Amino acid sequence: MENKVTKIGVLTSGGDAPGMNAAIRAVVRTGIYNGMEVFGIMRGYSGMIENDIVPMHSRSVANIIQRGGTILKTARCKEFFEHEGRKKAYNNLKKLGINGLVIIGGDGSFRGAHKLSEEFDIPCIGLPGTIDKDIAGTDFTIGFDTAVNTAVEAIDKIRDTADAHDRLFIIEVMGRDAGYIALHSGIATGAENILIPERRTDIEELVNGLLEKERRKKLVNIIVVAEGDRGAEDVAKVIKERVPTADTRVCVLGHIQRGGAPTCMDRLIASRMGYSAVESLIEGRHNVMIGIVNNKMHYTPLEKAVKAKQRISEDWLKIVKILAS
Ligand code: ADP
Ligand code: F6P
Repeated sequence: MENKVTKIGVLTSGGDAPGMNAAIRAVVRTGIYNGMEVFGIMRGYSGMIENDIVPMHSRSVANIIQRGGTILKTARCKEFFEHEGRKKAYNNLKKLGINGLVIIGGDGSFRGAHKLSEEFDIPCIGLPGTIDKDIAGTDFTIGFDTAVNTAVEAIDKIRDTADAHDRLFIIEVMGRDAGYIALHSGIATGAENILIPERRTDIEELVNGLLEKERRKKLVNIIVVAEGDRGAEDVAKVIKERVPTADTRVCVLGHIQRGGAPTCMDRLIASRMGYSAVESLIEGRHNVMIGIVNNKMHYTPLEKAVKAKQRISEDWLKIVKILAS
């Protein structure tokens, strides 16, 4: 098949995620290997609109595979929501002759890419870069494994104090709309309760469970709550009122989950997806999000990738109930 895409732009957009640098590196080096010119677009769609676009070379991405954050920086860009903003962005790409884009970000970033590709004739490939793992069409998102391991390490440490003092800890992890970090880190740390937005929290059931545990002198309890469910402070307020004898503490893990060196897993999937993004552009597979499903590359049209969320399987929810008794 004829290689029509000769100059590609790569950007990171939305929330940063560990492994984004590994993905940038893979895109740049695979592009150069295939004789393309590669440009780095700074600060997501903001750099595209402001023409903050720099040529990338093989050396530009040296010594970054192990680094968290993103060397291209990232941003949330209001102007890109408007047609005028996207037009400005496209004109800047056109001036440089960029005729293919790789967008590393979450579903919001893909929504922007989808609009750009619909309005202007530019092929876009999305790579799922988000710690939340809230995108359908892929078993993995770049950054999730690192974030969940950071949460596990932190919760393990908190359990030491919970155990030493016979305390109840409510730990809030990230996940605006998705409970995957809470679910995985909660199961991996043996949390007694896991509260996620995908399942309605029955606060009565939670309180009754804690009262029952108190009766059998089980005082050490870890409750992991996803930020998208209800805030840890809110849950603590109810528990302090209804289970006043519990020695309750709250810990919000916050942005430590977004940073740090990517795990081996995140480096591998980022490398594989970055390589595959360029291959897809060469093969003419346009306007798709690259995912990995059952260890094979999986391509989801951008318009579908932005609509569907990953679903948490009933099996996981059953496992939580059985193991956390
Ligand atoms: P994420 O990609 O992590 O989900 P956001 O939802 O904040 O992050 O989206 C990142 C950026 O993508 C936004 O700041 C905006 O520039 C662009 N974007 C998101 N949604 C749209 C949309 N509906 N139309 C155009 N651009 C969008
Ligand atoms: O989408 C990733 C995420 O970490 C969410 O879990 C969280 O709600 C959000 O980003 C916070 O983003 P920021 O601090 O950049 O506004």
